[in-house]
Amino acid sequence: MESAKPEVSIDYRSLQTCDIPAEDQTIHPFTLVIFGGAGDLSQRKLLPTLYHLYENKELIDEFSVIGVGRMALDDLSYRKLVGEALKKFSDEAVSDEAWINFSRHIYFLSMDAREDGGYEELRKKIDTVTVADRAGNKNIIFYMAVPPELMPAIVRKLRDHGFSGERFATKILAEKPFGRDRASAVRLNSLLLDTFNENQIYRIDHYLAKETVQNLIFFRFSNNIFEPLWNRRYIDNIQITVAESIGIEHRGAFYEEAGVVRDIVQNHIMQIIAMVAMEPPVGFKADYVRDERSKVFHSFRPMDGSYIDAFTVRGQYGEGIVDGKKVPAYREEERVAGDSITPTFMAARLYIDNWRWADVPFYVRTGKRMAQKLTKIVVQYRQPPLRLFGRAGDILEPNILTIAIQPEEEIAFRIGLKYPHEHNKIFSAELKFNYGQIFKVKPQTAYERLLLDCMKGDQTLFAREDGIEAMWEIVDPIIERWENNPHPNFPNYGAGTWGPDEADRLLEKQGHRWHTL
Ligand code: BG6
Repeated sequence: MESAKPEVSIDYRSLQTCDIPAEDQTIHPFTLVIFGGAGDLSQRKLLPTLYHLYENKELIDEFSVIGVGRMALDDLSYRKLVGEALKKFSDEAVSDEAWINFSRHIYFLSMDAREDGGYEELRKKIDTVTVADRAGNKNIIFYMAVPPELMPAIVRKLRDHGFSGERFATKILAEKPFGRDRASAVRLNSLLLDTFNENQIYRIDHYLAKETVQNLIFFRFSNNIFEPLWNRRYIDNIQITVAESIGIEHRGAFYEEAGVVRDIVQNHIMQIIAMVAMEPPVGFKADYVRDERSKVFHSFRPMDGSYIDAFTVRGQYGEGIVDGKKVPAYREEERVAGDSITPTFMAARLYIDNWRWADVPFYVRTGKRMAQKLTKIVVQYRQPPLRLFGRAGDILEPNILTIAIQPEEEIAFRIGLKYPHEHNKIFSAELKFNYGQIFKVKPQTAYERLLLDCMKGDQTLFAREDGIEAMWEIVDPIIERWENNPHPNFPNYGAGTWGPDEADRLLEKQGHRWHTL
């Protein structure tokens, strides 16, 4: 006789996210409304990502995507535009059959997101294309892929038109940058929180969703040999490089407003530092991890004017050669002022004043049009306390742990060994782990991960209200100081280089140097 399976009711609230069986992290039927649906991010990243998720059968069949924007498009012309964007920007081949099926899920509504008029149309469109889930809910995800100044208007209109109320089970995604300083981020947060609950709000930082950035948690906390040495007693300095070889492309107007600090430092660099520096979370739930990241932001040493002058370096690229091609100076880019003072490069020495990290310099540098695309974390350990090897000790290379985020995904550890035959010569060798070689699968892209997590309701890889505000608090004084004291000698680095010489001197002052390769 077959025994009846006992009904077990699991309270998922008590489980770690990673303990919830994958099949129970369900995607319910949904409609994704993308403000900025015909914009750059949508064409380059969001729509190709959605297509690949669909093609790889990671989406369910009951979904719709509504692009919203001011362009005069209808469903058919939008589908054409998306088809072309896929051909242009997709990393993988696009199958005709999958594309035809996918395209039937996408729609467009031409409207001005600042005006009331379009929202009633939007409601009708949502009602027509949305399939309710089994509980009868209509799950709507609003994605604000628009500049920060447009976000408050969208949130207000969504609230005024009842999209945040009971009629819909709503989530809202906000692209970065979230505000343009702490004050505007606070205002946007309070508007969002007046309209939605925190667990409906997904603030994007796609660096958090890169496989190798997530791996930092696994690497640090699943290996007992690194964590005990991960502190000021053993670590001499930490270096974080986020270098890009591309320029600002056609985003001149945006970049003139943003500059490097708002574009990369306030978000991506801060989040990488948090993953490197945070304490072990008490569990793997979204808020446990986000609590630890926030504590790091709150521990940054505050920077006043003299600190900023001494320990930060800014740059703007002039013309130069990148990948063998001559490229123009920043000031000659489309929609950039001929005398622009916007920085495209930053290097800094930062400190985290807590028990683990007090006095360990965190060197960061990032810029456009640098020698190559490279995101890398370098942990340089202290020298051994004794010069046991006589004069050979003078040229002893320190142990260096390198975590390469992109384009190579790699972890390497440099150790000193005896050189054959010589009696006191030290040789530096590397222990290496390369993702591609070991796993032979393409890692999930950041946007795949973020879109899926939002559909499933997992907020771990999204920024929280307090974290966003704290990150602005760190960088606001730098932005202000730089804006009030324009650099007299821009451009000060050539495209295709590692940035201005001052960035090297910043480390040399402390007897350090950038470990680039
Ligand atoms: C974006 C910035 O957030 O990140 C861009 O706005 C930058 O300026 C991009 O090019 C870099 O992302 P990735 O994933 O290519 O390193």
